[in-house]
Amino acid sequence: MARMLIDGFIAAGTCVPADIIVSTRSPEKLIPLAARHPGLIAAEDNRRTALSATRLFLCVKPMEIKGVLEGLRGAIRPQTHVVSIAACAELGYLNRIAPGRYTRVIPSLASALGGGVSLMCHGPGVPPADCAFVESLFASISRVQLLPEKDFAAGSDLTSCAPGFIAAIFRQFMEAGLRHSDIRPQDAERMVIETLYGTARLLARGGLGFGDLIANVATKGGITEEGMRCLEAELPALFDNVFAATLGKHEMVKRILSG
Ligand SMILES: NC(=O)c1ccc[n+]([C@@H]2O[C@H](COP(=O)([O-])OP(=O)(O)OC[C@H]3O[C@@H](n4cnc5c(N)ncnc54)[C@H](OP(=O)(O)O)[C@@H]3O)[C@@H](O)[C@H]2O)c1
Repeated sequence: MARMLIDGFIAAGTCVPADIIVSTRSPEKLIPLAARHPGLIAAEDNRRTALSATRLFLCVKPMEIKGVLEGLRGAIRPQTHVVSIAACAELGYLNRIAPGRYTRVIPSLASALGGGVSLMCHGPGVPPADCAFVESLFASISRVQLLPEKDFAAGSDLTSCAPGFIAAIFRQFMEAGLRHSDIRPQDAERMVIETLYGTARLLARGGLGFGDLIANVATKGGITEEGMRCLEAELPALFDNVFAATLGKHEMVKRILSG
């Protein structure tokens, strides 16, 4: 995810490589990144990164946040703006480990080509200019959605988990098509992906909402309407189960984090 953000910010022109200092646990993994972006600075360790930075991005897994922040005690300056992208690691949790000025962001892989949504929530004490800077940075690769932290878990399903969910849903859709036809799998996959792309464009740029698009396609008494009846009967319970599973996992990780 850190790689996607760095590539995205540089491609969007909101950062130049020389603005960016990176450190990671396995430094050899920085070699291709540094080769792709001449001028980008690879620091030897996290403390050196933190000591040189005015904005610090934490892009490690939720379970690794505590160890990383503890290792940075004394290296994060009071005015440094810390941006964490870790799921489940709430502002209160971050502040208990190392008091500071935090913003939480949940990016999405959908932003790899400049789309998707970044969820954002600023903690208390982040100056308006720093809020605005980070919002504009993420706005250069995605749409920024400010959300209260309590809605981050459900919001993450809708934006950050969603690329995986959408791929899983449409794979099942395609496989049903295969079970009911002689279409070759590679043709069916392409047919569904192109349809998904066209549908997303209609929704995103064509000014149509979900209801409008359904009404346009599912004409009264037609074939689509029959399929819609099945979807409307089956999907609410299925998606409630998905949210129950993911929200349950969020709660479990938060319990583990707060130890
Ligand atoms: N993937 C997504 O779609 C997505 C979406 C939204 C939010 N997030 C959040 O983004 C965060 C990162 O996820 P990811 O998918 O990018 O995971 P990832 O590919 O495993 O990346 C985590 C990186 O952190 C490095 N790391 C671990 N411990 C470190 C330490 N002590 N010091 C410096 N670097 C350290 C790892 O190094 P090694 O290479 O040595 O393991 C790895 O490069 C997670 O907190 C996740 O909740 C992810």
